[in-house]
Amino acid sequence: MANDSITLTVEPGEIHALLGENGAGKSTLMNVLYGLLQPDEGEIVVDGETVRFKSPRDAIAAGIGMVHQHFMLVPVFTVAENVMLGAEQVRGGPLGFLDRRRARQRVIEVSRRYGLEVDPDSVVEDLPVGVQQRVEIVKALSREIDLLILDEPTAVLTPHETDELLEVMRGLKAAGKSIVFITHKLREVKAVADRITVIRRGRCVRTTTPDTSEEELAALMVGRAVRLDVQKTPAQPGEPVLSVRGLVVHDERGQRAVDGVDLEVRAGEVLGIAGVQGNGQTELVEAIMGLRPVRAGSVVLGGETVTNRRTRDILRAGVGYIPEDRSADGLVADFTVAENLVLDTYDRPPYGSKLVLDSDAIEAGARDMIARFDVRTSSPNAPVATLSGGNQQKVIVARELARPLKLLVAAQPTRGVDVGSIEFIHQQIVAERDRGTAVLLVSSELDEVLGIADRIAVMCGGRILATVPADTPREEIGLLMAGISVDEEAVP
Ligand SMILES: Nc1ncnc2c1ncn2[C@@H]1O[C@H](COP(=O)(O)OP(=O)(O)OP(=O)(O)O)[C@@H](O)[C@H]1O
Ligand SMILES: [Mg+2]
Repeated sequence: MANDSITLTVEPGEIHALLGENGAGKSTLMNVLYGLLQPDEGEIVVDGETVRFKSPRDAIAAGIGMVHQHFMLVPVFTVAENVMLGAEQVRGGPLGFLDRRRARQRVIEVSRRYGLEVDPDSVVEDLPVGVQQRVEIVKALSREIDLLILDEPTAVLTPHETDELLEVMRGLKAAGKSIVFITHKLREVKAVADRITVIRRGRCVRTTTPDTSEEELAALMVGRAVRLDVQKTPAQPGEPVLSVRGLVVHDERGQRAVDGVDLEVRAGEVLGIAGVQGNGQTELVEAIMGLRPVRAGSVVLGGETVTNRRTRDILRAGVGYIPEDRSADGLVADFTVAENLVLDTYDRPPYGSKLVLDSDAIEAGARDMIARFDVRTSSPNAPVATLSGGNQQKVIVARELARPLKLLVAAQPTRGVDVGSIEFIHQQIVAERDRGTAVLLVSSELDEVLGIADRIAVMCGGRILATVPADTPREEIGLLMAGISVDEEAVP
């Protein structure tokens, strides 16, 4: 049971935050409100009238719009085509032509009215995620709606894009719209919510106001006290495990995304890469992992040059990899949880040989990892796509930390993960470090980098601007992230 007699009331012109740990049932509840799932019991009342939604079409007609946790846009369509999808208008009779001009105008109109800047003619796959998120909102708002559901819209946004989105939400509220806002970031909840409802394991725990402290909210969500800081002892760095020299990597458009990066990660230390998303971090990590060609420079792992080696060989050399885009690079959606847990070890004992898979061993191994990493799933044999977003992330973390590692490359390891699981994943990364593994952590959450890194390299415009100790003041790192070095600042 994903939702167990939940009662939730949203007032007109209210921002109502919905909090709860991974798998608590937030997306399920919203899918019911949006007509994607039918409730077994209970009712939905809109403006005093009991309604029954057979599909999202009915929900939209009742004034409800939804932006889903995972992007639902068609990458090869333009913004206007995506917005029109599902509400196509034709001219020249019922078998006429798509009215693209009207669709373009609608996009321009909506984006002006709510201050959501988007270009109707851009192809969606070329847009940064922050803009794609805006397109999703424009799409929802293009159908006269009163209630907007935002399911973790900020998980993939940079802090700046997040602030912009919060501002848009305030504007919508001022225009009389109601919003249900799902997020795992308590700071955002405190910044915009009028009321907060916490759900835990499918049940409503409490509806409260934003003056509730972050610690208390975290405890309500998880059902126990959560440490919001990370416990760790000073690092004991050993030999260099990863050395990157003069690395040059191109992005999709052939531009130099990584422009001569040098870095070194030693055994038993966490090197954190801080930086605003889109400054070459993704390309740097993909090049190290053999997923993107290195144009110049070298990657040396444990004394051996592995530049442009196959990803499989790099993983086999003792590298664990938590990719930033879990659906594209971390999981096979249609495979079961158990199968996803052995994606890089299935052809080796105890799970199998070159010829056969030992399904009993795979299932037993999966049960063990599911228990250790508290993955909430109905069974090891459930398709991984049926897990909640945060639990999908935990499957990847469990898999990558399950084998002996020399190096762990963790990109945005806690994206979309609830506060209790963030605490747990951070502890696991620190424990991995204490076992002597070198850890390269890339995160756009400065708090995460400050919390677990032993040294911090700040990346901006494809270069490492500086490498600083972990106790450097956050303002100084913030300036570096914006491309301003502190020495320059000091010059009158
Ligand atoms: N189609 C499905 N089939 C089977 N189980 C499902 C399906 N959809 C959701 N569930 C289960 O329902 C529970 C609630 O999932 P839901 O996606 O609502 O969680 P959530 O609160 O949104 O979590 P997150 O913060 O991780 O996104 C989970 O245990 C999930 O595995
Ligand atoms: Mg969800």
